[in-house]
Amino acid sequence: MVKNELSSLNAFDFLKLSSIRKKKFKDAADTPIPNEYPVNALARRLHPVRQFVKVDKIIERDKDCKTYVLVCNREKGTEELAYFAAGKYITVFLNIEGMPITRAYSLSSSPKESLQGKYAITVKGVQGGLGSRYTLDNWHVGSELEISAPEGTFEYVGLRDAETVLCIAGGSGITPFLSMAKAIADGDEDFNMILLYGSRTADSILFKDEFDDLASKCSRIKPVYVLSHEQKEGFEHGFITRELIEKYEPKNAYSVFICGPQVMFNFVDKELAAMGLEKKYIRHELFGEIHDASAQEDCPDHEKGSVKITVHIMDEIKTAEGSSDDTILQILEKNGIAVPSRCRSGECGWCHSYLKSGKVYAPKRLENRRKADLKFGYIHPCCTFPLTDLEIEVPYSR
Ligand code: FES
Repeated sequence: MVKNELSSLNAFDFLKLSSIRKKKFKDAADTPIPNEYPVNALARRLHPVRQFVKVDKIIERDKDCKTYVLVCNREKGTEELAYFAAGKYITVFLNIEGMPITRAYSLSSSPKESLQGKYAITVKGVQGGLGSRYTLDNWHVGSELEISAPEGTFEYVGLRDAETVLCIAGGSGITPFLSMAKAIADGDEDFNMILLYGSRTADSILFKDEFDDLASKCSRIKPVYVLSHEQKEGFEHGFITRELIEKYEPKNAYSVFICGPQVMFNFVDKELAAMGLEKKYIRHELFGEIHDASAQEDCPDHEKGSVKITVHIMDEIKTAEGSSDDTILQILEKNGIAVPSRCRSGECGWCHSYLKSGKVYAPKRLENRRKADLKFGYIHPCCTFPLTDLEIEVPYSR
């Protein structure tokens, strides 16, 4: 049915559609339906479920921070890497001594580099961080990895965001902004970037040379470095306060993108609220994984201790035991049970599971479930803590 035919139809004409369709089927060629249409093949290329890569290069940023350049692992069948919008992250699938865990890392490489078969991620050691410690100590040139396609929603959207974006970064939260800055310089993103980047000292600034180089070539990128523990000429001193934001904010309307540690989110959010900036102009990258239920301000009183989780995965039933201070996902992984996950922050929905029985707690600021999920008992195990023994249903094993 062509558009003109449709627009000239009234409701009664729809009754004739059946006979028109029958005639079209009858007149159609009898060649068999293809196993795969070109559009399906394209969708698979753009959104592969898994990609296989190798570590091609390692750049030491400081003693506890490294950038890993990843390239296609052709022997494992990955001939090209999925393209992405700057700001996305990939999930790395790890197996640490029988523990099937995932970790999400923002891409610092540009979308253009992905077309050349290259991604880059930067991993910083986190105190007590299982995944980051394992990665920093074990990945070497040639290490083979399994990763997801680029994921996430932290990206510039022309219809929604203002022409200028005030980007606020802290520590290794700078990585998605490097990808965005490269994409602006490449002409793949169409916005102006004012970057307020908070670090402790000048020596701990990540990617300063890269940002300075990009800014020297592209007038749409303006980095400002803010040092909290050092006073130095050419750098701002202190924290990213309302006064500092007002000093650099553009005259016209602007959006704000924030990525950094949780403590920075909390601080900057209050400063922006005091400025009266509407929430719709503010976008956050993920908060990151939460480890300690009792440390969350809205956690209800509960008896801390060991809990048992019964997991239904398709026709299988497994059991896991762990601490009520761990998320459900962490407990399952520690018991060797591999379930779907990507962001580990309640944002992507990959871990979506059904709570058959028991009581749980999910921190309000990571609450991204739909109303129907809340009503019918669905949870995100990556950001939900058990308050009692539980029984859950997981859609499939990873
Ligand atoms: S892993 Fe993304 S919502 Fe749970």
